[in-house]
Amino acid sequence: MGFFSVVTGIPGPSGYGSASTAEQVTAGIDARNLSAIVTGGASGIGLETARVLALRGAHVIIGARNVEAAKEAKELILKDNASARVEVLQLDLCSMKSVRAFVDSFNALNLPLNMLINNAGVMFSPYQLSEDGIEMQFATNHLGHFLLTNLLLDKMKTTARVSGVEGRIVNLSSIAHVYTYEGGIRFEGINDESGYSDKKAYGQSKLANILHAKELSRRLQEEGINITVNSLHPGIIMTSLMRHSALLMKVLRLFTFYFWKNIQQGAATTCYVALHPSVKGVTGKYFLDCNEVKPSTLATDCGLAKKLWDFSEKLISSSQKSGN
Ligand SMILES: NC(=O)c1ccc[n+]([C@@H]2O[C@H](COP(=O)([O-])OP(=O)(O)OC[C@H]3O[C@@H](n4cnc5c(N)ncnc54)[C@H](OP(=O)(O)O)[C@@H]3O)[C@@H](O)[C@H]2O)c1
Repeated sequence: MGFFSVVTGIPGPSGYGSASTAEQVTAGIDARNLSAIVTGGASGIGLETARVLALRGAHVIIGARNVEAAKEAKELILKDNASARVEVLQLDLCSMKSVRAFVDSFNALNLPLNMLINNAGVMFSPYQLSEDGIEMQFATNHLGHFLLTNLLLDKMKTTARVSGVEGRIVNLSSIAHVYTYEGGIRFEGINDESGYSDKKAYGQSKLANILHAKELSRRLQEEGINITVNSLHPGIIMTSLMRHSALLMKVLRLFTFYFWKNIQQGAATTCYVALHPSVKGVTGKYFLDCNEVKPSTLATDCGLAKKLWDFSEKLISSSQKSGN
C-alpha cells in the first residue's frame, strides 16, 4: 500500500482500499452468532464500528466512560436498525478499578465473547497522571487495554473452544507509532514529566498497541488457542480525538486533504480485520486500508514486545499492591 493507493483509493491485494467503507468490507457477512466489545464505542470510529458490527447481526457491548453519550450512541444505532443488539457498560480505561468493574459487569451479562475491539484512545493530551499514577496516554491507550484484554481472555478462550469460531482481538494503533521516544518505550521513566512530549507519548502508546498485539498473538499461538490478535492504522479522520490539537489538525488538513477519510471509511479496516473471512488465521499483523503492511522496525521487535509485556504486568501488579 503506497502513497498512490492511499490517495486514489485503488484497492490493494485484499480487494479493498482507503476508499472502502465499513459497510462495504462486511457486505454479506453474517455475524448473528457473534458478540463483540468495542471500547470507546460512543463516538468516532468506535461508534461506526459498533453500528456496522450490529448491522451484521453481532451482539455489541459498548464500553464507554461517558455512559450518557454511549446511550445516545445506542439510540442512534437503533434508529436505523431496530433489531440491533447493543449494550452499554461504564468503562474508564485510565482507571484499573474501572476496568475491573467493567469486566465484572460484562461477566454478569453471561454472554460469550468472540471479538474485542480495543478502540478507545486519547491523543496529544498535556502531561497528566492517571489515578493509578501512570502517564495518561500510556495508561489509557495501552495499559487499560492490556489489563482489559488479560481479564477477558479466559472468556474469549472458552467462547472460541465451545463455539469452534475463531476469536479476534483488534488493537487500534496509528501511523503515529513511528514518532516515539528513543528506543520506543520510556521504560526507565514512563511517568517522567521532564522530557515529556505530548506527540511522542501518543506515538509511544500507539507503538505499545502494536507490540501488545504481537506478543499476545505469539503467546496464544504457542498455546494453540483459536484467537487472532492484530493491530491497525484506521487512516486519518476528523474526530474528537483531535480535541487537544484542533487548530493544528484543521490547518494540516488544508494541505493534506487527499489523505483524510470520512468516519465510514475510518472504521473499514477495524471491521475488515474483525469480521472478514480472508483474515482467518492471520495473527500478529498490522493493517492499513484493509491490507496487511509492515509497521516500523521497533514495532516488529519481538524482544521489545516481550519487555513491554513484562513491564505492563509489573505496573499493574504494583498498582494492585497499592490498593487500585
Ligand atoms: N481519528 C484518527 O485520525 C485516528 C488516526 C489514527 C488512529 N486513531 C485511533 O483510533 C481510535 C479511535 O479514535 P477516534 O478518532 O474515533 O477518536 P474519538 O472519536 O475521540 O473516539 C475515542 C473514544 O475513546 C474514548 N475514550 C477516551 N478516553 C477513554 C477512557 N479513559 N476510557 C474509556 N474510553 C475513553 C472517547 O470517549 P470520550 O468521548 O469520553 O473522550 C471516545 O469515545 C483511537 O485509538 C485512536 O488513537 C484515530
